[in-house]
Amino acid sequence: MHTCRATQPAHDNREDRRPLTKVVDPPADWAEDSRMVTVDDIVVPPPEPGQMLDFAALFGDRQPVELEIGSGKGGFLLRRAQALPDRRFLGIEYANKFFLYAADRMARWGITNVRLMRTDARHLVIHHLPPASVHILHIYHPDPWPKRRHQRRRLIQPAFVAAVAEVLMPGGRLAIQTDHADYFEQIREVVGRESRLLPADFDVPEAGVREGRVETNFEIKYLREGRAIYQLAAQKPMAPESSE
Ligand SMILES: C[S@@+](CC[C@H](N)C(=O)[O-])C[C@H]1O[C@@H](n2cnc3c(N)ncnc32)[C@H](O)[C@@H]1O
Repeated sequence: MHTCRATQPAHDNREDRRPLTKVVDPPADWAEDSRMVTVDDIVVPPPEPGQMLDFAALFGDRQPVELEIGSGKGGFLLRRAQALPDRRFLGIEYANKFFLYAADRMARWGITNVRLMRTDARHLVIHHLPPASVHILHIYHPDPWPKRRHQRRRLIQPAFVAAVAEVLMPGGRLAIQTDHADYFEQIREVVGRESRLLPADFDVPEAGVREGRVETNFEIKYLREGRAIYQLAAQKPMAPESSE
């Protein structure tokens, strides 16, 4: 079994929890240097057909890389990138409106360790990511496609999860959160069937989760509405030590 749980809405015990926060724009007197970052520094093109993504070229170094699929307006990426300047973050988002919103937001905050790519994440992960290249893969509130005839459009399917197991580094982690109980059952089953991924704790501050909260826009909205949130984490085992 993979670690999973339904987090009850924060309304009943809010005094125990961090406040629900919205990312706001930077103040007018925000650090002078931050104004040097432009949207063009943040936005990167998807790889050409047949090409593998080169993270070292993308970021100019070999620091650990985290990926967020469906980065939306970028709230989670912004907080995490600010908290961890030595990590590198790639947000994948195919809705142009959200993609541009997030890119503008990163630039205005002067974020230098985030890149955003407008593409289909399923295709990118399956065809363009090098093996053992990603430290953490975050997927928060993937589109649930609730109608039965649309469910084959859901992101979390066996071929996708097999590709995730391939692209995670040894010790790397997959974290998924949704408000949709039926989709969560599918996620649990599909991830559980991937033998290269083992159960892991979801609530790990090192991985961006404190007290069961990751703070994406959808999470904040759904907790305010009183909906339950379902979470699952899985880990690729560390490579065995060489006996030589
Ligand atoms: C429900 S929203 C959640 C946004 C954000 N993660 C949050 O929790 O606030 C799902 C986002 O994933 C994006 N998305 C869905 N499928 C995608 C795919 N295959 N590739 C890239 N982005 C995708 C959608 O455009 C949308 O912005």
